[in-house]
Amino acid sequence: MLKNDPISLYTAHLAEVARRTTEALSLSGYEAVILQSGEALGLFQDDQHYPYKAHPPFKWWVPLLDAPGSLLYFRPGQRPKLIFYVATDFWYQPAQLPKTGWTEHLDVVVVHSAEQTRTALPHDLSKTAWIGDLLGKLGAWDVAAINPSELIRRLDFARGRKTPYEIACLAEANRIGARGHRAAEQCFRAGGTEYEIHQAFAGACGQREQELPYNAIVALNEAASVLHYQVLRRDKPAKHRSLLLDAGANFAGYGSDITRTSVADHGEFATLVSKMDELQRGLCALTKPGIDWRDIHAAAVERITALLCEAGVLRCSASEALESGASRLFFPHGIGHLLGLQVHDVGGTMADAEGGTIPKPPRDPALRLTRKLEPGFVVTMEPGLYFIEALLGPAQSGPHAARIDWSRVAEFKPYGGIRIEDNLVVTESGCDNLTRAAFASV
Ligand code: GLY
Ligand code: MN
Ligand code: MN
Repeated sequence: MLKNDPISLYTAHLAEVARRTTEALSLSGYEAVILQSGEALGLFQDDQHYPYKAHPPFKWWVPLLDAPGSLLYFRPGQRPKLIFYVATDFWYQPAQLPKTGWTEHLDVVVVHSAEQTRTALPHDLSKTAWIGDLLGKLGAWDVAAINPSELIRRLDFARGRKTPYEIACLAEANRIGARGHRAAEQCFRAGGTEYEIHQAFAGACGQREQELPYNAIVALNEAASVLHYQVLRRDKPAKHRSLLLDAGANFAGYGSDITRTSVADHGEFATLVSKMDELQRGLCALTKPGIDWRDIHAAAVERITALLCEAGVLRCSASEALESGASRLFFPHGIGHLLGLQVHDVGGTMADAEGGTIPKPPRDPALRLTRKLEPGFVVTMEPGLYFIEALLGPAQSGPHAARIDWSRVAEFKPYGGIRIEDNLVVTESGCDNLTRAAFASV
C-alpha cells in the first residue's frame, strides 16, 4: 500500500484535478465534461474481448481499472459524479465498486443500462464535452463536442506535473516492479527461458500480463539488440550471456518503466554494463527543474559516444563520431520520456497548453520529450548502447564503415545490448530516483 495515507493524498489529488479541469473547461468554452472509462472491444466475429484498458483521462480522476462502460461527469463547482456501470450478466463477473475509501469523495450512481446512464446525466448536455470512444448513441445525447482537441490538449498539458498522490502511486509501482526484476534476474541466473523469466517477473509483481503497464521486454543474448523485443521464447539458448529486461508494474493505474541489463560472466561486456550504469547515474545527477531535456539527451549522446570510443567500438575521434552520426547507430532512441498514467505519457513535446510543439532535434526523431523540466514531472532516464543488426548490417558498406571496429562489434554482438532505465521525480532542486530507492527497499 502507499506509504503515506492514501486517502488524504487522493483527496488532495482529486481537488487538484478538479481545479485544473475547471480551468481547462473555462478556457475551452465548456460548462462540463464527461470522461468515459472505455468499452471492452470485441474480437472480429467472436464473443470474446481484447483485454480492457481504462482510458487515461478517466483514470486521472479515479483508480478504476476494470470498469468498462462507466463515466465521470464533472461540472465545476459540483462534486464529481461517477456513473458506475454494473452489467446484468451471468457469463462474466460484473464490475465491483470499492465500498469505502476514495468513493466517498464522489457522488456515485450505479447503473445497469445505457438508458440509466443517460438518465443519470443532466438533461441538457449542449455545453458539455465528451472525451472517449465514438459511440453511436452519442448522436442522440446532443453533447456539445466529442473529443474536442482544444480541451484534450489543455487536459494533457495539465497532466504534466504529478500530484503527491500520483508520485506515491509511481513510487509504489516502482517497488512492485523492483520485486519483479529481482525474481526475474534470479530466474535468468538459474538458466530460465525468456518465457520463464517473464512469468517470474509477473508472478513476483502479483500481476497478470494484461495488468502490466506495457508488454515486458524480456530479451536474452542477441535479442537484447531489438529495442521493443516482443517474443517470449520457450526454448533455452545454448548459453545464457545477457538479459535485458524492460518491465514495469502497475499501481492504481500508474506504471513503472524499469530496465536492467544482467550479464552471466565477468568479461568486457560486463565492464561495459558497469560503465553504462555509472553513465546513467551521471545523467540522473543532471536532472533538475529548468533544464531542457534536449540538453540531457545531447549529453547522453556525447557520453555514450565517448564510451564507445573508450571501448574500442568506434575508432574515429569522439567529435567525428558525433558529427558524422556514427555513434547514433548504437543509441538510436531518446534518453527518456514523461511517465504517469501512460508509459509514454502525454504532453512531452507541448510548448504550452494553448498549442505549439517544441521541435525534436533533427537528428533525434525518436526523442519523446523536448520540454524544460518542472517540479512534479516524472521522467525515465534510459541510456542504451546496442549492437543492432538492422543498423550495423547496412553500415558495413556505408560511410561509417571505417569509423567502426568490426572485430569489437563481433565480440559484443552476442550480448545484444544494454539499457538501464530508472524513473525520476523532478523536485524543487533536483530529482528523486524512485527506481534506485525501490531496489534498495526490496
Ligand atoms: N518500455 C518502453 C520504454 O522504455 O520506453
Ligand atoms: Mn521508457
Ligand atoms: Mn522501458
